Amino acid sequence: MDEYQVPKGFLWGVATSANQVEGSWNEDGKGISIADCERFDPHQDLADYKSVNKMTTQQLKVALNDKTSKSWGKRHGVDFYHHFREDIKKLADLGITTFRTSIAWSRIFPNGDDEKPNEAGLKFYDDLFAELKKYHIQPIVTLSHYEMPLNLVLNYNAWYDKKVADMFVRFSKTVIDRYHDIVKYWIPINEIDSIIRHPYSSAGLVEDRFPNHNFEAVIYQAMHNQFIASAQIIKYIHKNYPDVKIGSMITATMVYPYNSDPANSLKARQVMRESYDFSDIQVRGYYPKSLLLRLKKKGIDLKITDSDKKLLKENTADFVAFSYYSSICTAVDTTGLKVTKANRTKGVYNKYLPTSQWGWQIDPVGLRIILLDLYDRYQKPLFILENGLGAKDELTSDGKVHDQYRIDYLKKHIEQMLISMQDDGVKILGYCIWGTTDMISASTTQMSKRYGLIYVDLDDEGNGSYKRYLKDSYYWYKDLLAHGNVID
Ligand code: BG6
Repeated sequence: MDEYQVPKGFLWGVATSANQVEGSWNEDGKGISIADCERFDPHQDLADYKSVNKMTTQQLKVALNDKTSKSWGKRHGVDFYHHFREDIKKLADLGITTFRTSIAWSRIFPNGDDEKPNEAGLKFYDDLFAELKKYHIQPIVTLSHYEMPLNLVLNYNAWYDKKVADMFVRFSKTVIDRYHDIVKYWIPINEIDSIIRHPYSSAGLVEDRFPNHNFEAVIYQAMHNQFIASAQIIKYIHKNYPDVKIGSMITATMVYPYNSDPANSLKARQVMRESYDFSDIQVRGYYPKSLLLRLKKKGIDLKITDSDKKLLKENTADFVAFSYYSSICTAVDTTGLKVTKANRTKGVYNKYLPTSQWGWQIDPVGLRIILLDLYDRYQKPLFILENGLGAKDELTSDGKVHDQYRIDYLKKHIEQMLISMQDDGVKILGYCIWGTTDMISASTTQMSKRYGLIYVDLDDEGNGSYKRYLKDSYYWYKDLLAHGNVID
C-alpha cells in the first residue's frame, strides 16, 4: 500500500480495554471486578472457552479469597496502570489520532453501590486523558468492557437486576460529566450482543445464582436492561453534551452459507440478522419483530414496558461501531462438516480461507461485506473499533519481533476498508487495530495470544519483566499512517 486517501477527520488508532491491560486490580481503592476472577488455566479447553464463559459462585468465592495476582491474568494485565505514559508516548510516535479504551467501573465505584466515586480511580483517568491530549490523540471510551464490580454479582443479580442497571447509569454519568470535554466518542457496552455468547464476562450472569429461572430468559432480560441503560446514557449525552457522539457496538462476524444450497443461504442470512438485531435496537430504536417472535417460540416473555419502548425510540445511537476479526460458514445440516471458531462462536470451516493459530479464519473481504451490510442497513457512519490478529510472537535475542503475518493481516483488512470507502461509498469514521501493547486475551486469559504492535515481556503464568519492544508491525503501521492523503 503506497499512497491512499481517507476523508478529512478520519481517525486512525489502536484499541484496548481497561481489564486486559491496566492491572493494579486492588490499587488506589479499586474493587475486585468480574475480570479479576478469570484465572489462566493451562488445561483449559480452548475450543469451548469454558474457563471464562461459565463461572460458578464457588469459583468466584475462591477468587475473592485469593489475594495474589500472578496467575490471574487480568489482575496484573500488562501493568498499563504504571506504564501508561511510556505506552502512550510510543503509540503517539506511530502517528495515531485516536486511542480506544474503557474506564473500569470498579476503579470508580469499587463495589458498584458506593455512595461516592473513588477519587483516586478518577485521578488515573484524569492523568491518562491528559497524556492523550498532550499528543492530540482523541480517546474513545467504552463504559462497560467485561469489568463490572464483583459485588454486583454476589450481592445483587448482576445485569438481570434493574438496580444494577441504574448503578451503571450513575457510573456513566459520573465519568461523562468529568470527561466530556476531552472524550467526544463513547460506547455504552462493548459488543452488546456478546451477552448471549458469554453472559458471565459481559454481564456478570452466573447460572447457579438463578436456580428457579430459565437461564436463557435471565440472559435476555439482562440484555434488555443493558439496552435501557444504554438508551438512558444516550439521552443524557444528547441532552447535556450535543457535541459528543455515542455509538452502538456489535461483534461483526461474517457468516457465509457453506455452499449454494438456498437453505444454507437462508440460514446464513438468519444468523447475520440475529447479530444485527442488537444494532437494530440501538440504531432504529425498537426490537425487530423477528427477535420478539424468536423469543416467544422459546417461551421467553421479555418485560418491555411502554416507557421502555419510548425511551428506546427516542434515544438512538449516532454511529455504528463494531469489531471484526473473522468469518464462519453455516449449513442446515452440519453432519460431517469440519468445525471452525470465531470470537467465542463456532461455525463450519471455510476451505477458501487461512486460519489463525487460534483457529479463527482470516477473511479481509468479509470485512468489506460487513461494511456494506451495515451501511446499507442504517446509512449511519460506521466505526471499525477492533480488528487484529492474535498470534504467538517470538522475541529475538536482539529485541525484535518479526510479525510479518500480522502485517499481512492488517494490510489486507485496511485495503478492504479503503476500497469500501472509495468504491462502495461507505462512510467510516475511523479504524482501530485491536492491540496497543500485547494484553491478556479476553476469551482465554492467555498472554501468549498476542495482538499488540508493542510486545510485552510476560508469559501466561505472569512471569516476565514487563519490558516493551516494538514489533515490525509497529513500524509498518507508522509508515502507513505517514503516507495517507486526506481529502474533503
Ligand atoms: C473482542 C473483545 O471481542 O475480541 C476484546 O472486545 C477481545 O476484549 C478481542 O480481546 C479478541 O478476543 P480474544 O479472546 O482473542 O482476546
